[in-house]
Amino acid sequence: MMPASSTALPLALTETPNGAAKCPYLVVRDPESVRDVLHRPADFSPANALVAVTPLEGPALRMLQRVGFALPPVLASNDTGTHGGIRKVVAGYFTPATVTAMEPRIRELAREAAGNAADQLVRAGQADLVQTVATFPPAVVMLGLLGLPVRDLADLKRWGLDSMELFWGWPDRDRQLELARSAAEFYVWLRRLVAESVAAPGRNLFKSLAEHGLSRTEMCSLGYFLLIAGQETTTQLISTALFRLLEGSAPLGWKEAASETGARSVVRHVLATESSVPTWRRVAAHDTSLGGGRIPAGTQILLELSGNRITAAAERGNSSPQAHAGRGPSSGLVFGSGIHRCLGAKLAELEASVIVQETAAALPGIQLRDHEPEWIRHLSFQAPRTVRVMNGPG
Ligand code: HEM
Repeated sequence: MMPASSTALPLALTETPNGAAKCPYLVVRDPESVRDVLHRPADFSPANALVAVTPLEGPALRMLQRVGFALPPVLASNDTGTHGGIRKVVAGYFTPATVTAMEPRIRELAREAAGNAADQLVRAGQADLVQTVATFPPAVVMLGLLGLPVRDLADLKRWGLDSMELFWGWPDRDRQLELARSAAEFYVWLRRLVAESVAAPGRNLFKSLAEHGLSRTEMCSLGYFLLIAGQETTTQLISTALFRLLEGSAPLGWKEAASETGARSVVRHVLATESSVPTWRRVAAHDTSLGGGRIPAGTQILLELSGNRITAAAERGNSSPQAHAGRGPSSGLVFGSGIHRCLGAKLAELEASVIVQETAAALPGIQLRDHEPEWIRHLSFQAPRTVRVMNGPG
């Protein structure tokens, strides 16, 4: 074990990328210590997993309260004995066999999306691969697996991005209110979906959760997390993989990505070096220790799972995070570890690989049009917002 001083960096009062707020975390980067924290849920609780990084102010809070918005602990932030049973119900929808059986459907969606991108290139001379290939297939697949209706996809995508910014970003007061309005809309939509699903024929996630004894509020809380985590993170992984390939900074080229092994290896590379979920949080449940160092109760901990700007800045003791893509710890922790490990890991890797492969195969002659896109840079989520391409000279 290494001493805590070399494994845990106090990111006390570090400025955020927009310089607007402060976020005090103890940053843990050493993979062995990250794993240790994840495997000691009684000492390091996930109760802060869904707490807003930037405290929400009055107007945003009132907007959420007006619709009865609440996120009681059920899954990702649940540190009680009810977690295991609820996790089992959700896991039933993402078994390895179910995910494997989904591959032909994922490939069909990927080909259709890549075909749309090709049409757009012919028609308009340019296309955004985030919009055309990365955005919708993961949402369609997730809703299908959960037995839920595939509808309102554009709203769902907007709500997911807005909620990520509200809870993991650094929005100012005015932006918080805009984002809270969107989150409230999402929550109202979700409450209707839960009520409808519980009464619907056949098997679906909310019906199973109701049978397990969850209240409507608990089901909305679970749905709020899962309907974002279960698709937007995959969209973002695909976006980064496509961007790095076309930029020429991935270990292999666009042509090689058109094969199954090539695509899979690019996805693994991006997961290890700049995953869409580069950090995750825990909080010390009581006075404890890590790697020989003392950790007081209530310490907010930021675990580095993959390369990113935020924790890289902490290591340099620098208060202005710079681009630090490609600087990551070992893979193997990118989906977490232990009792809260991601339930969608296999699905996410499969979807990302198939979509990258089919896109590279369908659009062999393209090149990047915008080398400096805007990036989503929240505490725990990152990806380029657009991957604009055009036909190459050939
Ligand atoms: C690239 C895509 C994804 C990444 C990088 C990712 C990453 C993560 C991480 C880091 C955690 C926290 C693990 C921990 O606390 O130990 C997590 C939890 C979770 N993820 Fe994912 N995830 C992805 C996609 C998905 C998908 C597609 C689904 C479902 C369809 C999903 C469902 C979940 C669930 C349910 C949890 C909470 C599990 C629990 O608390 O027991 N994720 N994910």
